[in-house]
Amino acid sequence: MTSARIDDEKITQIRESVDIVDVIGEYVQLKKQGRNYFGLCPFHGENTPSFSVSADKQIFHCFGCGAGGNVFTFLMDMEGYNFVEAAKNLAEKGNIPLDVEINKDHGRSHVPAGSAQMLEAHELLRKFYHHLLMNTKEGQEALEYLMNRGFTEEAIEKFQIGYSLDSWDFAAKLLSKRGFSPELMEQGGLIIHREKDGKYFDRFRNRVMFPIMDHQGNTIAFSGRALGEDEPKYLNSPETPIFNKSKVLYNFQLARPHIRKKEQAVIFEGFADCISAVRAGVENSLATMGTALTDQHIQLLKRNTDQIVICYDSDSAGLNAANRAASMLQEHGFHLKVALMPDKLDPDDYIRKYGEKSFVSDVIGGSLTYMAFKMHYLRLGKNLNNEGDRIPYIEAVLKEISHLPSAVERDHYLRQLASEFSLSLEALEQQQRQTFFSERKKGNLQAQAQPVKVSLQYEHKLRPAYYNAETKLIAHMLRSKETAYKIQQMLGNASLHIDEHQAVITYLYGFYEEGHEADTSLFLTYLPDPNLRRIVSEIEMMSVNEEVSDKELTDYINQVLKYEKVLKIKEKEAEEKEAVRRSDHLRAAQIAMEIIQMRKML
Ligand code: CTP
Ligand code: MN
Repeated sequence: MTSARIDDEKITQIRESVDIVDVIGEYVQLKKQGRNYFGLCPFHGENTPSFSVSADKQIFHCFGCGAGGNVFTFLMDMEGYNFVEAAKNLAEKGNIPLDVEINKDHGRSHVPAGSAQMLEAHELLRKFYHHLLMNTKEGQEALEYLMNRGFTEEAIEKFQIGYSLDSWDFAAKLLSKRGFSPELMEQGGLIIHREKDGKYFDRFRNRVMFPIMDHQGNTIAFSGRALGEDEPKYLNSPETPIFNKSKVLYNFQLARPHIRKKEQAVIFEGFADCISAVRAGVENSLATMGTALTDQHIQLLKRNTDQIVICYDSDSAGLNAANRAASMLQEHGFHLKVALMPDKLDPDDYIRKYGEKSFVSDVIGGSLTYMAFKMHYLRLGKNLNNEGDRIPYIEAVLKEISHLPSAVERDHYLRQLASEFSLSLEALEQQQRQTFFSERKKGNLQAQAQPVKVSLQYEHKLRPAYYNAETKLIAHMLRSKETAYKIQQMLGNASLHIDEHQAVITYLYGFYEEGHEADTSLFLTYLPDPNLRRIVSEIEMMSVNEEVSDKELTDYINQVLKYEKVLKIKEKEAEEKEAVRRSDHLRAAQIAMEIIQMRKML
């Protein structure tokens, strides 16, 4: 049993010291609806929230993928913790003293072999690089470079920036001296194997080192910037078992609480920009790691906010990337803004040139709506004084306007267009309507992003009567020990038809036998199988009356028994056919009588 090493009393104490809504709230943006909280499921990709958390019951359940459990199993599923690790983490949150040893390698059972070593090596190098930058003569030039770029000591500390020595094998030697396997360190991207003499040398040499952290703050990769004009400007860790750049957003761990608070995230193309923005006070800043925005990034964002400001370079490459990112985000239902800077600057340059205050108020504060950005984007490379450019531009803008769901917004941009090009508003409105109909005909009008709608798919599932009866019985058995025993008696020797249901009640009897009172959240800790936890969390999320009459219970039991009889009748019918086939007419007639009797009993 998973709870073998921590006693039940302690588990209950820990569980009561934290609120599942807060714990899950650190991973999922939850909105209250009725008695429960809803959000986007962190265990499968989705755009409409079907993930629910019950504060009363202290459990969660996803109606989409079926994931479910209590606060312990949530952390186990989410972080790959074992039970003891989850308990320890929660005990810390709830300030409950808990003395248990965690064996690192065994605890992180989800980490593939060798990954723990890779993480440790990254941790070691991060500290070393940082030390070299801050405290040594060798690091001085790099420190000056950073200071000249406006990095403060505070920022260097916060982002744990460092310096890698101008040496061929400083890191290779250090790692081997500490007992790290060179093959593994090569796989981890820290050192490189030279074919011709079999020697290992450092990947990063004479560079300013930016550690890349995962969402728990572990260093999983580095990006090293050349001090001068060396190429490449940035040298990144390759993809490794611990680093997948299409999943990682730079600064995510530090930004997450700010994103929650401001209900908005700002994304940058590079981490240099992200660091400058944080320094300017835009703490909800994130950056991609030299890749375009991926679906995985979007799912991660979606779990934390639905408002994004895109703040990419304002050169043409940056604007193209911003346009692509914006249309992806729009498709996923985000509320979008796009921040622009003058003179093709990037955010970091802008801050150095115009200051932090202006960045916050003019660039971030003045960011454009997606429609206004599109109007700007459509202008690029066009000369609107020239009629040949102007007419297609106006038509393209009208097309975009006809995609806007809000009449007020459509009116706003039509007026803007009318005034800029001295056109009559009526003419524009008329043309916009035509565009709307022709776009609709072509099927180009995508469904508008729906407001938060809870998808309760389970309510629509067509399940046989005995299935629903079984879930109702289990629901009542979970609510009260007394009812559970009553049902046990009523069922007698019959068992539930769904194997998982029977397994759940068998565990539940065991749970009550051990002296526990009804407590579904605690019971979930007892279930060893995630599939059973899913079933229990789904059932627990159903609403059933607290008080249940014997009549109601009898009805459910009868549904179960009736199905049992139906199955028996089916068996008899098969026997009857078999007897007819054997020309044993006497036996066939006997069975037919039995079937008639059985039908009467139904
Ligand atoms: N990048 C990279 N490799 C390069 C150039 C860029 O991985 N050779 C990534 C880095 O993450 C960088 C981002 O792309 O932060 C944006 O590139 P760029 O705009 O060229 O760099 P800046 O962020 O402006 O960097 P700096 O200000 O240091 O020149
Ligand atoms: Mn720059």
